[in-house]
Amino acid sequence: MFTTTGRRRGALYVSWFLFLLYFIFLKTRNSDIRSADAVPYDEYECGCPRFGPSLRSDVLSLCSEWSSSRGGGQKVVAYSVYGDVTKKEVNRQYYSEIEERAKDVASHYEGWVMRLYHNISRSHNNSDLLCVLYCRYPHLDLCLVTHLYPPPPQDTRKEGHNEHDSMRGRISLHQNTKASYEKRLVGKMWRFLPMADPLVSEFLVRDLDSSILPREVAAVEQWRANSTALVHLMRDHPSHNGLILAGMWGGSRERGAANLTSMLHAMTRWPPRDIWDYDQMLLKRVVWPEVLDSVLAHDSYFCANPHFQSRHRAVPFPTRRDGRLFVGWGRTRADERKTIIDCPVQCRPRNHLDWRLC
Ligand SMILES: *[C@@H]1O[C@H](CO)[C@@H](O)[C@H](O)[C@H]1NC(C)=O
Ligand SMILES: *[C@@H]1O[C@H](CO)[C@@H](O)[C@H](O)[C@H]1NC(C)=O
Ligand SMILES: *[C@@H]1O[C@H](CO)[C@@H](O)[C@H](O)[C@H]1NC(C)=O
Ligand SMILES: *[C@@H]1O[C@H](CO)[C@@H](O)[C@H](O)[C@H]1NC(C)=O
Repeated sequence: MFTTTGRRRGALYVSWFLFLLYFIFLKTRNSDIRSADAVPYDEYECGCPRFGPSLRSDVLSLCSEWSSSRGGGQKVVAYSVYGDVTKKEVNRQYYSEIEERAKDVASHYEGWVMRLYHNISRSHNNSDLLCVLYCRYPHLDLCLVTHLYPPPPQDTRKEGHNEHDSMRGRISLHQNTKASYEKRLVGKMWRFLPMADPLVSEFLVRDLDSSILPREVAAVEQWRANSTALVHLMRDHPSHNGLILAGMWGGSRERGAANLTSMLHAMTRWPPRDIWDYDQMLLKRVVWPEVLDSVLAHDSYFCANPHFQSRHRAVPFPTRRDGRLFVGWGRTRADERKTIIDCPVQCRPRNHLDWRLC
């Protein structure tokens, strides 16, 4: 005999049963997707594998396998850590700043990947810190430069040699590529590698000891949104008198992948030298002459100085200086704020000539 209550209870059981089936269906479907597409990556053996698609062997990043599995169109903020990290000063100025930069990048450049180029093998005990950060910050990728090698040289292919010649090219290539990028570029220049990375769309090269200020982010946004320039650079302190400051520039591979790639390769042809501003010397020799027509410079002190002119006038920073902070400033260089002075009137926004510090 079926009462109303009985029928209602029956319906309830049926819907529970259906719900359970649906739940099981969803579960198995998800785990199928996971096992089919996602593979674990833990090359540096930090013990916190990240999951991503398995690699297509033909397109690899200039960072790591994990970073290759992120796929194309990556926006990257690149840093180098180099030198003897067991030394106190190196540790204080750079090593201990990595986590601060990871937080900066996460909060100011949402959706961007932070790459840390380094040569610290996993057996070195300083690698533990790198792993702690790698496991804590999913947007931080570690790039071990001892494992990164240049691709086959382009020139032999481009010049249309016959097969015989290109074979010869390939043989000499093997001799040329014995050295990894660790040895081909000085440590400060490892962070330039995104220039030639096929999976990168835009990159910013920065210093570990410099905080990311909203002022910089506004300048970068203006470059990306309101210019077509291949390269972006900033000068924001009376001491910033270099053509391209090595930790305050960036480039867009969307606007010239081949140009940036060949500039990086040109730089690797210069023998690495132990000169403190060697990275800046090569930017001046190799990159500057190539980008005179396609550079956006935000410059608060040298905007009208004839020695720093590209074919376009440098522009003022879009936001007003916050106190005496400047792009490039950081915890360990707090004193440099003292030398911030009034900026030339020409370097102020035309509608804000009253911004004395611009
Ligand atoms: C890393 O490279 C620097 C040179 O930039 C060198 O002094 C240092 O010994 C290297 N460190 C390791 C762990 O190989
Ligand atoms: C690094 O390892 C060496 C030997 O393996 C050890 O003597 C040293 O104390 C370690 N340093 C740190 C900071 O753990
Ligand atoms: C780009 O230019 C337009 C028009 O001048 C302006 O409204 C906008 O704020 C600018 N965007 C950025 C990111 O600078
Ligand atoms: C990139 O290189 C091509 C070929 O050399 C050149 O025509 C073009 O102007 C360059 N673009 C930029 C933005 O420098």
